[in-house]
Amino acid sequence: MSGGYGTRLAPITSAVNKQLLPIYDKPMIYYPISTLMMAGIDEILIITSPLFLNLFKKLLGDGSKWNIKIEFAVQDEPKGLAEAFILGEKFIDNCPSVLILGDNIFHGTNLIDLLLKTSSDVEGATIFAYKVKNPESYGVINFKDEKIESIEEKPQIPKSNYAITGIYFYDSSAVSRVKQLKPSKRGELEITDLNNLYLVEGKLKYKLLGRGYCWFDAGSIESLNACSQYVQIIENRQGLKIGCPEEIAWRNKWINETNLLEIAKEQQ
Ligand code: TTP
Repeated sequence: MSGGYGTRLAPITSAVNKQLLPIYDKPMIYYPISTLMMAGIDEILIITSPLFLNLFKKLLGDGSKWNIKIEFAVQDEPKGLAEAFILGEKFIDNCPSVLILGDNIFHGTNLIDLLLKTSSDVEGATIFAYKVKNPESYGVINFKDEKIESIEEKPQIPKSNYAITGIYFYDSSAVSRVKQLKPSKRGELEITDLNNLYLVEGKLKYKLLGRGYCWFDAGSIESLNACSQYVQIIENRQGLKIGCPEEIAWRNKWINETNLLEIAKEQQ
């Protein structure tokens, strides 16, 4: 999902889509695309606003340079995350799917294993919880032992400090479930309402992203800058890239070394 107004980043986002802004050395959208590729996903639908569609097409093309398939859909107005499943119905084609927010950046030990394990489990839905200082800004999950007790969208008095991150794995029933949803008071098809439909049937699972993980929602000035600094520090310290789709395509054996070198040459 790469639409939205990006109001918290105004005036930077007055003329540019948030997901095209740089996070250190690459466009923000590269990070969620990389996360999906690490989960073994090679068919991606980018949903964005009409104004910026051509810029995303120019940046990403059809995905063939990474040997993946990238398609595009337009969301006229940001009417909620769950609308992805209406706009993407044909693309999803009755299959399981993963939704990731264009401003969410994930990094950490064993992330690939965790993502691959989750994408191989196609029963029900899986969300990821991350401990934060300001849970009231997010969807909040309250759990005891293995059991989810509640999930709430931006509650004034959060029942826990665990935010629901912006990556969601669903079985093939997500599209038909979203069709049962009504817009919320703020006029959006809420992802929390979709997750609650799974929860009442006992089909919602959660995984904890513990201390070893870093999760950013790069939607505010503070987090945009913090995330850029994080990537800069880790990349320069280790000499390894974060959120580099060509590297992941190569590691996944979707492109070979010659292809990788060609991309590197283009970027010199
Ligand atoms: P938000 O950060 O909640 O919204 P926003 O990007 O418009 O920013 P702001 O709150 O500052 O106005 O959205 C989270 C992500 O989901 C972001 O990557 C944009 C995307 N999004 C859509 O593509 N469509 C939508 O209808 C919504 C609600 C969000």
